[in-house]
Amino acid sequence: MRSLLNGVALLGAALTMTAPGAHAATIAISCGAVGLELQLCQDGANAWAEATGNQVNVISTPNSATERLALYQQILAANSADIDVYQIDVIWPGILANHFIDLAEHVDQEAVDQHFEAIVQNNTVDDRLVAMPWFTDAGILYYRTDLLDKYGKEPPTTWQELTETAREIQEGERAEGNDRMQGFVFQAKAYEGLTCDALEWIDSFGGGQIVTDDGAITINNDNAAAALDLAATWIGGIAPEGVLNYAEEESRGVFQSGNAVFMRNWPYAWALGNAPDSPITGKIGVSQLPKGGDDGKPTGVLGGWQLAVSKYSQNAELAVDLVRHLTSADEQKRRAIEGSYNPTIAALYQDEEILAATPFFGALYETFTNAVARPSRVTGEKYNQVSSEFFNAVHAVLSGKSDAASSLAALEGRLDRLSRGGRW
Ligand code: GLC
Repeated sequence: MRSLLNGVALLGAALTMTAPGAHAATIAISCGAVGLELQLCQDGANAWAEATGNQVNVISTPNSATERLALYQQILAANSADIDVYQIDVIWPGILANHFIDLAEHVDQEAVDQHFEAIVQNNTVDDRLVAMPWFTDAGILYYRTDLLDKYGKEPPTTWQELTETAREIQEGERAEGNDRMQGFVFQAKAYEGLTCDALEWIDSFGGGQIVTDDGAITINNDNAAAALDLAATWIGGIAPEGVLNYAEEESRGVFQSGNAVFMRNWPYAWALGNAPDSPITGKIGVSQLPKGGDDGKPTGVLGGWQLAVSKYSQNAELAVDLVRHLTSADEQKRRAIEGSYNPTIAALYQDEEILAATPFFGALYETFTNAVARPSRVTGEKYNQVSSEFFNAVHAVLSGKSDAASSLAALEGRLDRLSRGGRW
């Protein structure tokens, strides 16, 4: 049988120091490749391979969470042993749980207890710990400190203020000759990332979280429509039309080349933006995202990635050992310093070396620990369909195909049908 992974990049790790008599195995781990992810995964896996005398194949997967899930579902549905360790999104435990082993039976309770309890809970499905927390994420606002200073502006606290400041600086910079300057870049392609951005706008306007924790479908409301109406004005205004096809890396590309005042992104963009060869190194500020007006509240959506062991793995014990190593405090510290990936271990937010490399891990601690979850727990196996309906409805509004009120009313109808009865 042809391997399901044909066509997917396999990056081999060096094999050294096999203990005499020990049976060396090859463990395959799937990793993301956004920003420095792949390199950091490879380095961490190599260290484990060298220390244990095993081999690791690091498998690079699509950047889009939506596409990555489709690939995983295809491999797992075939009960394939091609991947032993899966890097899974914080929204997937309910979708993929049945394919993974219960890590509570293998990892010491003490090691599990170091991690944020809410994430451990999130990764626990039917009393089984299906994944270990690896790094957490929350949506944050990046801004250019030099440009805000030049125009005498403060970081915006409301989306309305962001809109005005972005417009003023974009116009000013264009008038001075940088006709590529954009006010604001974010993720508006029709994929999981748009679900995150749009949920932030909507929740910050008091429009709720699509589906409540106890299963009521609340998306069709005036505050949600007001949030989307404002966002629609950004397209071709303070944001390029092309943002309708931007994921994380496209937004970072524009911001990091010096051509945007504001960017919504995850923490990983900090390390890259401040790298020595970055045109904007030392000119980046970070804050929580704005509120939806004075009565609103700042909302950063909870993201993040976990490591799970396939139940089809032929080397589950070794796979668990690799997960133990990669999710350890030392490894999370290295990833925080080198790549600004947020630890899932609370104690690391007090670590001076980490705080020196990424000061906003301390300043925005509450943003990370109070990030707002997407409705993945309550909608369980159907989350991906809920999210697809949501991001398509939002994309239609942003691209001018529909007004917000009609799009949200139609979305409510589709979610009602998906839930079979109007609530979960
Ligand atoms: C980030 C988040 C993840 C989210 C994805 C959307 O990788 O960590 O949770 O689903 O972005 O693009």
